[in-house]
Amino acid sequence: APSYENIIVDVVGTKKNVGLIQLNRPKALNALCKPLFQEIGKAVKDFENNDSIATIIITGNEKAFAAGADIKEMQNNTYSTNQKQGFLQEWEDISNCGKPIIAAVNGFALGGGCELAMLCDIIYAGEKAKFGQPEINIGTIPGAGGTQRLPRYVGKSKAMEIVLTGNFIDAHEAEKMGLVSRVFPVDKLLEETIKLAERIGTHSPLIVKMAKQAVNQAYETTLRSGLQYEKSLFYGTFATVSTIYGEFHGEDRANYSNGIF
Ligand code: CAA
Repeated sequence: APSYENIIVDVVGTKKNVGLIQLNRPKALNALCKPLFQEIGKAVKDFENNDSIATIIITGNEKAFAAGADIKEMQNNTYSTNQKQGFLQEWEDISNCGKPIIAAVNGFALGGGCELAMLCDIIYAGEKAKFGQPEINIGTIPGAGGTQRLPRYVGKSKAMEIVLTGNFIDAHEAEKMGLVSRVFPVDKLLEETIKLAERIGTHSPLIVKMAKQAVNQAYETTLRSGLQYEKSLFYGTFATVSTIYGEFHGEDRANYSNGIF
């Protein structure tokens, strides 16, 4: 296994089919410096290419999921260096992953930390979690999807409030507005997230991938063309005859989860 400096990578779950990525810069509240993000990108890609992995979890620690992009790293950036280096462009890489990625958020998910959580497909939170886009406090704006994903996920008024005030919202508010799908006690969060990942992992990896693609398309397109996209994927699932047959006859789903389709 590759060794990382800023993350800890593990394989968990009773069937060892869940890839776990834990951000590991606790002294900097998991601030997302470039090397850390490059490591996340590599770990996600490795899990995606590993047929025994069904689902990926990204988590932090009890104090912080991630407190944002690394302010110390970016404080001397200029407009010109940002343009030349494509600052933060590699962040979108993880949204190309075909396997589901679940964010398990305890503590702060601020700025780029909130944006990283939103790059994931599902967000579970511990009850002490705090979300926010505080970039405005330091004279900038969200730069890794915050202004685009938040309004799509929670609506315009809430998104504007979060982005324009820089105020933090707690886990229960985040759940109420639909940013987070469930909230758990802090010490139960990871095991509940693993259960979710394992549940998803009982299904055919091919169909899981298609379902994820179809839902994501809802954020990319008009209703009419999204419905067309859904139909063609839906029809496509019938080309995986054994899968449909097996699910219908209640056969062990794991038979169809070997990733060879
Ligand atoms: N970047 C770099 N270092 C950070 C950091 C960040 N985003 N957030 C926290 N740290 C560091 C602190 O500098 C401190 O390190 P030192 O001890 O070496 O000074 C350490 O983490 C602990 O932080 P605090 O002492 O501040 O901890 P606290 O409990 O008093 O406060 C906090 C916690 C409210 C989260 C506070 O740390 C904070 O406000 N952090 C910045 C949050 C922020 O503004 N995030 C947005 C970043 S910009 C961005 O993300 C752009 C984008 O859209 C991609």
